[in-house]
Amino acid sequence: MLPSRVTPGDLRAMKAEGKRIVALTAYDRPTAEICEAAGVDVLLVGDSLGNVLLGYETTLPVTMEEMLHHVKAVARSARRSLVVADLPFLSYQADLAEALRNAGRFLKEGGAQAVKLEGGDRSAEAIERMVTAGIPVMGHIGYTPQSSHVFGKNVVQGRDVDAALTLLNDALALEEAGCFAIVLECVPREVAQAVSERLVIPTIGIGAGAGCDGQILVFHDVVGWGAGATLKFVKPYAQIGETLRQAVSDYARDVREGAFPAAEHAFTMPAEARALFEQELAELDAGCGE
Ligand code: KIV
Repeated sequence: MLPSRVTPGDLRAMKAEGKRIVALTAYDRPTAEICEAAGVDVLLVGDSLGNVLLGYETTLPVTMEEMLHHVKAVARSARRSLVVADLPFLSYQADLAEALRNAGRFLKEGGAQAVKLEGGDRSAEAIERMVTAGIPVMGHIGYTPQSSHVFGKNVVQGRDVDAALTLLNDALALEEAGCFAIVLECVPREVAQAVSERLVIPTIGIGAGAGCDGQILVFHDVVGWGAGATLKFVKPYAQIGETLRQAVSDYARDVREGAFPAAEHAFTMPAEARALFEQELAELDAGCGE
């Protein structure tokens, strides 16, 4: 029997029961399968794939088509985890109807079960429309990478009283608009805890301390693959980048030295076919010499 899929309602129930929610990014099948095997509750196909996979400097250039390509891969692979697709920059900010259509594409074409978008009160109207249309929405406030040019070097958000209260109001506006969960990114832990205590829906923290109802990190950072593993709020649980570098340089050495492929990596002809083949070759070679 297939395991039953985690739903937005399950996440809310987990918060009510004091169970922590485990979330990670996933952009492809191998990652989705590893995460599912570990019982990860939420797989976010984040637009962080722009920097992590596609070589962009920021998440801003990521398109709907690029996102859909990866959302489909994860949705095809995940049986139990809730698959959340991240709406990329300018896919929901300019126009409410376009926002709804793009969110719908992630469910209809991509196979995701929910979408995520950035922004507090300013995103509430778009969220309400999506929720009314039957699309579960995860919010995202604090440091929102699609506004990186506004924040500049100020990564941590909500450090003074006014900013902290704005954050709390944004969180309440998102809950009111119908979000089933909210990502809090790079927020002082006191603020994240205060927000979490005042919401019925769960908060999922990234760089927001232990007072959130769940945690999310970028998969590559967790396994120590790439520069993100050194960020203050990341704890790398492996050094996969180093393991991969070593494996590839061993392979390159073996190819150059003729140590790979060895006999056991090659296919052979059946003995009878081989004898006939050698006979044909000998005749061909003799004919060429005449
Ligand atoms: O794009 C992303 O991966 C994210 C998470 C890190 C929250 O938004």
